[in-house]
Amino acid sequence: MIGSARIELATVDSTNKHAADLLHLTEVQHGTVILAREQTLGRGQRDRPWRSQPGLDLTFSVVLRPDGLDAGHQFVLAQFAALAVRDALQRTGVPDVMVKWPNDVLVGPRKVAGILIQNELQGGRVRHSVLGIGLNVNSDGDVDGALATSVRLELGRTVDPEALLSGLLDRLELRWRQAMGHRAGLEADYRDALWGRGRWLPMELDGAPIEARPLEVDAEGRLLVELQGGAVAPFGLDRLRFGPR
Ligand code: BTN
Repeated sequence: MIGSARIELATVDSTNKHAADLLHLTEVQHGTVILAREQTLGRGQRDRPWRSQPGLDLTFSVVLRPDGLDAGHQFVLAQFAALAVRDALQRTGVPDVMVKWPNDVLVGPRKVAGILIQNELQGGRVRHSVLGIGLNVNSDGDVDGALATSVRLELGRTVDPEALLSGLLDRLELRWRQAMGHRAGLEADYRDALWGRGRWLPMELDGAPIEARPLEVDAEGRLLVELQGGAVAPFGLDRLRFGPR
């Protein structure tokens, strides 16, 4: 089960890197959580730094073994993780939590959590995966260059990071079962949680500014958008980005 084994570190460069290093050395069991009070070299998407406040925020990674998951379906890992974070925040009383494609967790327009998933593929399947989560709990939510928030700022009171973690691990386990079983519920929930769905938003397609309307994601994790003029097409992160907010 997710969280039944836990490694707690005072300081580490990055929990994702630590998990990857362990996986090269030994058999790490599915669901092992590597939690750090402080990261000195926390990494975000597109190799950006991820900064958090030691002891105030949550920074951890989970080793996942998605039995035989087809590499073409690896987006389900992003869906499961983002929805679990959303569930846990909602259960803590945070309102208006949405998922910005592919897997940023926002409260209104502000980012509260970032997710970094690193998959090792073998023969067209996901051999193992490292899921890294950075959740702004009691800090001011400093996310590089982005509008950011924290659970404390949203609720107006401090929150016990350990209690939040325990709730989040429960939701990860629940969403994991959905992801590894019949996925229809997970996909429907992801669609409902999709930030900006149905709204015309500034985006960038192949580096050029456009206005587009996100509709949903397909099984490969591409965002289906309506373009001005009415055409609907799916795009991956290699071509499409959200524009500046
Ligand atoms: C993002 O850019 O939004 C993703 C941020 C992911 C940060 C987490 S913190 C725990 C884990 N270790 C890392 O170095 N990164 C992830």
